[in-house]
Amino acid sequence: MDQKKRFEELSISGAPKILTTPPGPKSLEILKMQEELESSAVSYPRGMPMALARGKGATLEDVDGNIFIDCFSGAGVMALGHAHPEVLKAAHEQIDKVTHTLDIPSDTRMKMVKTLRSILPKELSRVFFGGPTGSDAVEQAIKLAKFNTQRFGIIAFEGAYHGMTGASLAVTSDSGHKDGIGPLVPGVQFIPFPYRYRNPFGCPDDMVDEFAADNLERVLDDSHSGYSKPAAVILEPVQGEGGTIIPTPKFLQRVREITSARGILLICDEIQAGLGRTGKMFSFEHSGIVPDIITISKALGGIGFPISAIAYREELNTMPPAKSIGTFRGNMVAFAAGAEALNWMVENKVPEYATELGEKVMARFRETEKKSKILGEARGIGLMIALEMVEDKTTKKPSADLAKQVRKLAHQRGVMIEVGGHHNNVARLLPPLIISEELMMKAVDILEGVIKDLETGKSK
Ligand SMILES: Cc1ncc(COP(=O)(O)O)c(C=O)c1O
Repeated sequence: MDQKKRFEELSISGAPKILTTPPGPKSLEILKMQEELESSAVSYPRGMPMALARGKGATLEDVDGNIFIDCFSGAGVMALGHAHPEVLKAAHEQIDKVTHTLDIPSDTRMKMVKTLRSILPKELSRVFFGGPTGSDAVEQAIKLAKFNTQRFGIIAFEGAYHGMTGASLAVTSDSGHKDGIGPLVPGVQFIPFPYRYRNPFGCPDDMVDEFAADNLERVLDDSHSGYSKPAAVILEPVQGEGGTIIPTPKFLQRVREITSARGILLICDEIQAGLGRTGKMFSFEHSGIVPDIITISKALGGIGFPISAIAYREELNTMPPAKSIGTFRGNMVAFAAGAEALNWMVENKVPEYATELGEKVMARFRETEKKSKILGEARGIGLMIALEMVEDKTTKKPSADLAKQVRKLAHQRGVMIEVGGHHNNVARLLPPLIISEELMMKAVDILEGVIKDLETGKSK
């Protein structure tokens, strides 16, 4: 079967199909129950009010029978879509054998390790499975960097999102997540990321990457900068929650040179941008560099099972046994599903497909940007795509309200997306990488229609 047909058959045909404007009556009942029983911190159903019944490929059906094109993939987790048949089969086979083994090896675990090794650069020869979430992987990466350098400072970037736990929250920039929580892990300092659209340096926009790298060099070399030599610099090679901010390869190359020359470790957080999302297996590969430590999670569990890992250079493999322990250090079902998914991704050239489809989507959105007064910038790499909404294109005044309206109207018309960015004004798309071209273009049509209606005042 050719790739086109194969990818088409993975999803529910005829999507989107809206029978009742979401949330429909059955969804409302369940949402009400959730509101009464769960924490006030519940977040996603506020932007996408619905209760879910089933998922297939790049489509999700709610309990009212509405079928949506999923352009969010559960925050980038479902890279191969929902209920992928081969991945499900691997998970089903494992679940009857053994499911939890701490870090005692098994064939399944070693298959996962070998599969992961086969997609990593040879320099990143060691893998470590810590706790199940992305935040756990970031904690491990920082711990490893501190232990190896015996230093404790970390430099992170404005716009960074690395997680919600102690050190991972400390290196996350959004004060919305940190205010009122009190002092976090000390020693973290932030510097500007090369965000061309909102150039933090006042230099010509095409020089923003150079200025950002020069600034890193300056704070490290100036003894009066207030920055002591850190253990590591941590960054997302493509920032996700910060608004899909895509630096040039040159920026990462410079950061690599600067950190290597000073014995500072470079941690690349690949939790969102990794595993095919940007058109390469890992997003640092666009620049040809090799970091010292990387973090991986989200799509790693194949079909939404939570696992995370770090991969790192041999010379950093210094922790004595049990230096860093934990109960959930790799789940057998997640390993079985994850190994199957990674192999499927390679065999079916999924990253290459993400590049091709992403370019077609961006060609459309760039045209929308030219015509629109409220779409400040459309940017994307592979199937990591963003629409930055503004009140006015000359002042670039961010509009969180417009981004929220895009999410709401898209949802009502059958497309699920999320919102992010420095000012919460960026509509973000992270569709499953196996979304068919037909479905993806339907989602683009709907989003273009939404932007047009918002602009003409037809929808509010
Ligand atoms: C780049 C990045 N790092 C870390 C995390 C944290 O992962 P988790 O939510 O699984 O803890 C995320 C989550 O969105 C992320 O996008």
